[in-house]
Amino acid sequence: MNTLEVKTRPFPDQRPGTSGLRKKVPVFQQPHYLENFVQSIFDSLEGFQGKTLVVGGDGRYYNRHAIQVILRMAVANGFGRVIVGRGGLFSTPAVSCIIRKRRAFGGIVLSASHNPAGPDGDFGIKYNIANGGPAPEKITEAIFTRSRNLQCYLTTDSDDIDLDTAGEQKLGSTLIEVIDPVADYADLMEHLFDFDRIRSLIDSGLFSMRFDAMHAITGPYAVEILENRLGVEPEALMHATPREDFGGGHPDPNLVYAKELVDVLFGSQAPDFGAASDGDGDRNMILGRQCFITPSDSLAVLAANAHLTPGYRQGLAGIARSMPTSQAADRVADRLGIELYETPTGWKFFGNLLDAGKATLCGEESFGTGSDHLREKDGLWAVLFWLNLLAVRKESVHAIISAHWRSFGRNYYSRHDYEGVNADGAGELIESLRAAAGSLPGKRYGDYEVAFSDDFAYTDPVDGSLSEHQGIRIGFTDGSRIVLRLSGTGTEGATLRLYLERYEPDPAQQSLDAQDALADLIRIAEEIARIRHFTRREAPTVIT
Ligand code: G1P
Ligand code: ZN
Repeated sequence: MNTLEVKTRPFPDQRPGTSGLRKKVPVFQQPHYLENFVQSIFDSLEGFQGKTLVVGGDGRYYNRHAIQVILRMAVANGFGRVIVGRGGLFSTPAVSCIIRKRRAFGGIVLSASHNPAGPDGDFGIKYNIANGGPAPEKITEAIFTRSRNLQCYLTTDSDDIDLDTAGEQKLGSTLIEVIDPVADYADLMEHLFDFDRIRSLIDSGLFSMRFDAMHAITGPYAVEILENRLGVEPEALMHATPREDFGGGHPDPNLVYAKELVDVLFGSQAPDFGAASDGDGDRNMILGRQCFITPSDSLAVLAANAHLTPGYRQGLAGIARSMPTSQAADRVADRLGIELYETPTGWKFFGNLLDAGKATLCGEESFGTGSDHLREKDGLWAVLFWLNLLAVRKESVHAIISAHWRSFGRNYYSRHDYEGVNADGAGELIESLRAAAGSLPGKRYGDYEVAFSDDFAYTDPVDGSLSEHQGIRIGFTDGSRIVLRLSGTGTEGATLRLYLERYEPDPAQQSLDAQDALADLIRIAEEIARIRHFTRREAPTVIT
């Protein structure tokens, strides 16, 4: 085997977004494109010689090819060991789990999360650091800077590695270890949750559920954990075989894209519990019979009930939520007497808080929930957490959420997405809001009075780093909020996200439809931000 130094030219567009570098597959297929980015990652790291790298992806189209490229480059760059999931597979939370368990230097995740896959779909690549979490901005910016002047990369002239048999193989002086992608993660889940209790609920015959893997990575994880370890019947698992194109679907677990599951849970004969995860297994959606739990509410319920599970019996150090996530968790933190951290969008901002022991649970409104058990959001973890609560409380999902709202009040919440709009128009909208923000406080809109308005900036309480321009917040005197920001994960045009929230303490007023409850705020958002004017759209493309 020989090491090769291949000449290349920099690409101008390799700046990692909210969650790594995401592009259409044909972009990644340009000669040297993937290699350039991988070399830029390695060049931005120090001291990995002889150390361990974890590599795996969500199984989408181009995954297997990319894994072979990365393996050769990891060998040529001097890693001592590369741990790769069998078949090139690892869910995002499983990569985080393995990095931590095996004390690896870092890991590379191949995924574009919930974005559609296939030859014309999306592909993505992301670097995770030694704590198992996404690289902080300092590193992603260094990668981008490096990518802009890269002149060559290192690889080998070796053949493809057999990815389908577990075991160790030597390539040059690097050991390539192919492992079962599920076992370690499943063991961790068994340690955190009361599997015996969940199993008796499932065996009781009084409980039925469905889990939708959406033809993506959680299929094999669900089979091992839900079916083999917890006794859920195979028919309860939908779309559990991963496909390179995710079956042509859009594996985003929400009311729009997980429609088949939603129809089952809202139909007659609905099961007691329904859940889904996304392309790479880090998102989750929780449903009860005729009932949808918003991710913001889910975080609040898990926090309020965490003491009922073995893994969190000791209580929580604190809760962290992304800025646009509803303030439902704030009320729980307040009652528990623990700290609540409001961070910018993106999981990477939770890493320091978790490492420093300041937060135990964290969550985002975008169907992401997780804890200090690893450093990514974790779809199946949230599903198992809910199953553990259901097994202990022996109440329906609906009863649990209703009781929660009676006790804490309800934060009506919705997100309106304007996908693929003209990037200039979307930029102008944010610019004009930024300019107007200072003059909004004190203004009245119907029953609402603006209390504050700003362009959210965050100073990390652990390392003091400052992240600015994280979204426009408009807060009202009654605690309601309107938030607007541009997506950092899209691959076409721009996506404007409008987040709406209203607090309702009165139990008699807590069963409205969210869109009805938020109708005034939706109108006010249009009046202040002139969304139709700037996006040239009459309505959002996705409402969750
Ligand atoms: C979206 C979500 C964000 C999440 C990210 C990665 O980012 O809004 O909460 O962390 O995907 O899953 P956005 O497209 O809004 O930048
Ligand atoms: Zn994801």
